[in-house]
Amino acid sequence: MTVACSAARLPRHLFRTLQCRRCYSTRAPVSLLGQQYPTDSMTNITSAIIDKVGRNLYMNPSHPLGILQSLISSHFHNFNSMVGLNPVVSPARNFDDLGFPPDHPGRAATDSYYINKDLMLRTHTSAHEVETFARGERQWLLSADVYRRDEIDASHYPVFHQMEGARVFSADAVGRAELEDDNARLSHHLARSNIVIEDVPHITASNPPQDVHDPVLAELVALNLKLSLNSLMLTLFGDRAGANEGEPLRVRWIEAYFPFTTPSYEVEVFFRGKWLEILGCGVVQQQTLDRARVPDSISWAFGLGLERIAMILFSIPDIRLFWSQDPRFISQFTAGQINTFKPYSKYPACYKDLSFWLPQTGLHDNDFCDLVRDTVGDLVQDVVLIDSFTHPKTNRSSKCYRINYCSMDRSLSNDEANSVHAQVISNLKDKFGVEIR
Ligand code: PHE
Repeated sequence: MTVACSAARLPRHLFRTLQCRRCYSTRAPVSLLGQQYPTDSMTNITSAIIDKVGRNLYMNPSHPLGILQSLISSHFHNFNSMVGLNPVVSPARNFDDLGFPPDHPGRAATDSYYINKDLMLRTHTSAHEVETFARGERQWLLSADVYRRDEIDASHYPVFHQMEGARVFSADAVGRAELEDDNARLSHHLARSNIVIEDVPHITASNPPQDVHDPVLAELVALNLKLSLNSLMLTLFGDRAGANEGEPLRVRWIEAYFPFTTPSYEVEVFFRGKWLEILGCGVVQQQTLDRARVPDSISWAFGLGLERIAMILFSIPDIRLFWSQDPRFISQFTAGQINTFKPYSKYPACYKDLSFWLPQTGLHDNDFCDLVRDTVGDLVQDVVLIDSFTHPKTNRSSKCYRINYCSMDRSLSNDEANSVHAQVISNLKDKFGVEIR
């Protein structure tokens, strides 16, 4: 089936947004942070995303993300804290250098934003591990915006913020003494704190050490990682008003897998009646340090999502709010303070269903969500796939999505909701050649 490209008829400033997927090669270059990048058949970055690059919410000291970023930086006050790194990286930096296999799903264009086949928006702060280690940093934090294509709901947004932290020790008697000292200091501090830790063994058959590591040293590094992060959990969640009402803070360690660490763990915290996943971490794969030309060393690293933690600590119910410029949101926060957000109003949800026959090439849920987000911006609150079937005789497939249009700062009129919905339908037909049912 050939689909006429309506983008060709559009004024130039709209060309980039509504460009037909089949004509990317003629797409205008993408401009990001003052730099122009050529586009090609891999390009899938949308203007909704381009608009967010450079906003640097986490650098604003009185924005909830900035408040949390500062709190974590001051907890690790001896660490060098880096900000403002360019989000445009090569897939080699984001994936290959970190040992992601060639068929890892995160590499797919359905999951990541590509500027062209050679450049993408980082999907995690770990993309900067090699260059940071290579600069000789021994204990560092790095805060940055990261980008992932995903579903649309109250806790997923295609741009979010992470902090990565790492600490390097020399793999000899000096490093060992440093680890023993620091572990004793941290254990002492934790023993006097109101915290209960459900641990897992540092090393098991399913969460193995690395062959190149002295197993005793690897255990000491894993212990240092756990103690350092338990102490961070106390800083973040320990004495929060009303958190656990005098109850101890409960932290749970779980075995995990990341291509660039082993052993690896996830940390969960029991907060206001629920176990919450907070971060991923582990002992850095030696290939990472080798690539960075850091000899005779061993390191741990962790990565955490700022939105997830800020939503819990500040009671922010919808992830879109972090991007709000409404004074009723912004004015509620003060540098250095964690306070509970008071929702100013709840505007009515407006549900619209959209059923269509898929094009022969199919249509990924993330492609649909990106198109909605690119068309209506933050007026979409969530998108749910409510039906999907393949006709037994014709073999054609159909999907039905329920879109919830709801503004964060005003009431949407029915006319306005109908009009943005009509725009979604029109863009969906233009871009993907679907047939509305
Ligand atoms: N980069 C990982 C993520 O985004 C988190 C992580 C960082 C895990 C460092 C281990 C070590 O999920």
